[in-house]
Amino acid sequence: MCGIVGYLGSRDCTSVLMDGLEKLEYRGYDSAGIAVFEGKEIKTVKTRGKLSAMKEKLEIEGRPIGHCGIGHTRWATHGEPSDVNSHPHSNGRVTIVHNGIIENYAELKEFLTEQGYTFLSQTDSEVVACLLDYYYSERNPGRAITETIKELRGSYALGIIFKDFPERVYAARRGSPLIVGVGEGESFIASDIPAFLKYTKNYVLLEDNEIVRLDAEGAKFYDVHGIPIKKEVQTAEWDIEQAQKCGFPHYMLKEIHEQPDVVQKTLDSLVKDGVPDFSEIGLTDEMLRGVHRVFIVACGTAMHAGIIARYAIEKLARVPVTVEIASEFRYMEPIVGEGDLVIVVSQSGETADTKAGLELAKSLGAKTLAVVNVKYSAIAREADMCINTLAGPEIAVASTKAYSVQIASLYLLAFRFAYARGIILESELKRLTAQLCKTPDAIRRVIAQEDECQFIASQLINTETLFFIGRGFDYALSLEGSLKLKEITYIHSEAYAAGELKHGTISLIEHNVPVITVATQSKVLEKTISNMEEVKARGAFIIALCRRETTFAEGTVDLRLNFDFGGLDDMLVPLPTVCALQLIAYYSSVLRGNDPDKPRNLAKSVTTE
Ligand code: AGP
Ligand code: GLU
Repeated sequence: MCGIVGYLGSRDCTSVLMDGLEKLEYRGYDSAGIAVFEGKEIKTVKTRGKLSAMKEKLEIEGRPIGHCGIGHTRWATHGEPSDVNSHPHSNGRVTIVHNGIIENYAELKEFLTEQGYTFLSQTDSEVVACLLDYYYSERNPGRAITETIKELRGSYALGIIFKDFPERVYAARRGSPLIVGVGEGESFIASDIPAFLKYTKNYVLLEDNEIVRLDAEGAKFYDVHGIPIKKEVQTAEWDIEQAQKCGFPHYMLKEIHEQPDVVQKTLDSLVKDGVPDFSEIGLTDEMLRGVHRVFIVACGTAMHAGIIARYAIEKLARVPVTVEIASEFRYMEPIVGEGDLVIVVSQSGETADTKAGLELAKSLGAKTLAVVNVKYSAIAREADMCINTLAGPEIAVASTKAYSVQIASLYLLAFRFAYARGIILESELKRLTAQLCKTPDAIRRVIAQEDECQFIASQLINTETLFFIGRGFDYALSLEGSLKLKEITYIHSEAYAAGELKHGTISLIEHNVPVITVATQSKVLEKTISNMEEVKARGAFIIALCRRETTFAEGTVDLRLNFDFGGLDDMLVPLPTVCALQLIAYYSSVLRGNDPDKPRNLAKSVTTE
């Protein structure tokens, strides 16, 4: 979803805004713009396209010179990407940038039109600018904001400047993230911390229905009624170095390579005296013993992590687990209540559907546990308990290291769950934990096979459709491998339970259709090999991801990637194996001339339905 940046201080505002918007590019966008006070006038420059187009326009129209302003990158929801629909939007006295969707914009637009307002754009956001102006009759910015947000339905993060107040920036939010940066004699608003991290690590989280005013004295906070409130200033643990590429050609490759370290770091944060320890987040053995059913609610890659967790929790703790797509869960009137544990998994912690699923679960009386990678996120704050994964900022749109730390954390939960329920003894709990703590080395060994993954990718360069197949944990992993490939190469791919293919979809297998087979699970290996032979018999090009010692009949496999998992339990090998799938997807994307960090149509955090 788009990015918002705002600044008040002594620096060149245009530079700060443009630099901040660049740091938010990973969120995905189609247009950009800034509005900066030049003396008492506001100069706005905005355009359809990337920031490169913005830079050209600044050259043509002149860079605004000032110290106070707001900026925006848009991910269009109402009105096509165009110059006129780009933000900021203004009606003279009030200029705004907006992230989110105003669901009742049509009725508000009708009312404002009756009041004599005219509109230049097709956006819902421009309605907010006019409504603020409508309530600005007493030239009181605070009141204009409180009156306006009372009438808005939907989600918003707003950056607002009033022409009469050239030394102030206002912001308000509901349902879309907004953070305040607090520097020395300067302050910032932004959709995410990387936008101002180079200037200050001190930040304040703006909560839903809160308002902030940046002025010469700093940042002042108010509730939805305009009553001053106190807010805690926190310090980010990230530095800008972490949020940058460190010499890799793409964030995605950097983040793939970070996985051994961030998995280690996350495990270290959750393992005490050789066993998983969730006491600090309030998740006790007694609570786990009281759980009758588990629901895992998430989207995309996070949902795939949930499927791995489902196999592990059911296998070890013998508790029924259902994995639900968040956008389905929130509207399916799920049978959830007391005694249920709903686990919401989300890298960003801001995904609208997952957040709504969490809120629904809480309203139905379930206990809720979040697994997030952004500890100041809305989901982290709303869940009863929260596991903070320590992958660090994940900039690439395609999630890689976040997935790995999610499944690492969820494996530990599965172990503790089984122990709490008396199904495994402490000795087994320690053994499993020790096994899991070996996975960073296994991940390193797979990443060292990067050139083999690149070669496999080179065999897919002209592929338009392919299949992933596997059984059990291998099937769960195939789902993630397929999504990774699809979202950054645009190759149509489908993951299938290997045993299910023959019930219809095998009709799509013909000569040279690639079938990537994940075949690491010993218990079902023979069955998986049979499925490979089935598709081979129909002309498939078989790429096998398997253990070094696995043997196949002559002619079954066209390419194979051999793993050495160092004696890991089968259940844990998804952690190293997924890196091969990530690397195959990454190199396939690059070989096809795509930018794996910013795939078309996608945004890093989907904060709208
Ligand atoms: C992952 O590669 C995708 N970019 C996407 O599926 C993502 O996992 C999904 O949007 C959920 O995001 P979240 O983890 O931030 O909730
Ligand atoms: N709904 C607004 C628009 O379409 C804002 C979208 C966004 O979050 O960028 O302009």
